[in-house]
Amino acid sequence: MAKIKFDHVTVKYGNHTVVKDFSLEVKEGEILGIVGPSGCGKTSLVRSLGGFLNPDEGDIYISDNLVYSKKKRINRSPETRRLGIVFQDYAIWPHLSVYDNVAYPLKKRKTPKAEIDKLVRQALEQVRMTGYEKHMPAQLSGGQQQRVAIARALTSSNDIIIMDEPITNLDAKLREGMLDEIRVLQQNLHTTIIYITHDQEAALQLCDRVVIMEPNGNICQIGTDEDIIERPANRFVFKFIGVSNFIPVVEEKGKYYVYQAKKELCYAEKKPKGFISGKPSVMGIRPMDIVFDDESPVKGVITQAVFLGTLFNYFVKIGGAELRVQRSMLDSLDGREYKEGETVGLRFLNEKYYDAEEGEVRK
Ligand SMILES: Nc1ncnc2c1ncn2[C@@H]1O[C@H](COP(=O)(O)OP(=O)(O)OP(=O)(O)O)[C@@H](O)[C@H]1O
Ligand SMILES: [Mg+2]
Repeated sequence: MAKIKFDHVTVKYGNHTVVKDFSLEVKEGEILGIVGPSGCGKTSLVRSLGGFLNPDEGDIYISDNLVYSKKKRINRSPETRRLGIVFQDYAIWPHLSVYDNVAYPLKKRKTPKAEIDKLVRQALEQVRMTGYEKHMPAQLSGGQQQRVAIARALTSSNDIIIMDEPITNLDAKLREGMLDEIRVLQQNLHTTIIYITHDQEAALQLCDRVVIMEPNGNICQIGTDEDIIERPANRFVFKFIGVSNFIPVVEEKGKYYVYQAKKELCYAEKKPKGFISGKPSVMGIRPMDIVFDDESPVKGVITQAVFLGTLFNYFVKIGGAELRVQRSMLDSLDGREYKEGETVGLRFLNEKYYDAEEGEVRK
């Protein structure tokens, strides 16, 4: 049973189509991440779900209720949709105390005072803000304000919460803490959470499933963190989720070369897994998956070597391109030092292949 369903939803602003024919089912009790570059339509989807924007086509269901249908002319008001939303651009009302912010959705629903008191207390406890009831937002840190925003979302609904970039403005340590808190919240209350961000790392860390959107608003992959990291659906996903190198490769008489012009750079004598024959192809490879190996016929020259605290980062010139290579501290325990200007052999692990003519974004 899907908790939320977008069914062929299209959103336009004037004649600018932002999301086209978007379909997605969010399962009960899951944390689903929606990740995509700025402007791909994430907030537009949240506003459509919340009832603040009317899609030009399609249906939206919340807990099996049809809350919006262009064709059937159904459009339930935001209050009746019973969603907790933590908005991207404004977190909490500056003129209301912490208590009043969190009580607001309940007051609006004309909840009895004693019940409001109880629910506000519970929500503040969930986000560890007990004792701050009388504080005004200006007296709180950014992280505390975000926690109040989440508490307010909880008094709107502890069933479904949508968080649109809730932690972008927090420092790294607070950000980590927030992710843990969101996870605990989900475990305690079994809330269904949609977590929207352009921070792919946070999404992969937090969410049960992640949806990757392309700049044009299309979904290009839905999967667990393992699916997305191990099996990126296309070149866009590969590039989006981590530091990447792309190297043109060619097949000739059963041998595989990097860079057409450099025939000595043969890196495989049998067909690598996933290689696309008969088409110009590029290899996508992560810096950690390029290994220095003196035996390899693929040679490059180190142009830059930098120690980054936990790993060594190198730029290696090969043919007309520069590759980024990383070696962990553990790999470096062999005592071999690699210096700028040195020629090194390169071996490739876990590489992926993409159609070179496909471009970076699948249309
Ligand atoms: N009210 C509006 N009127 C016209 N165009 C809009 C409006 N709101 C958003 N857009 C346009 O729609 C597109 C998608 O915007 P949206 O806010 O949904 O993106 P987003 O994925 O949330 O981006 P970000 O990661 O920056 O928050 C953008 O090109 C934006 O300029
Ligand atoms: Mg947005």
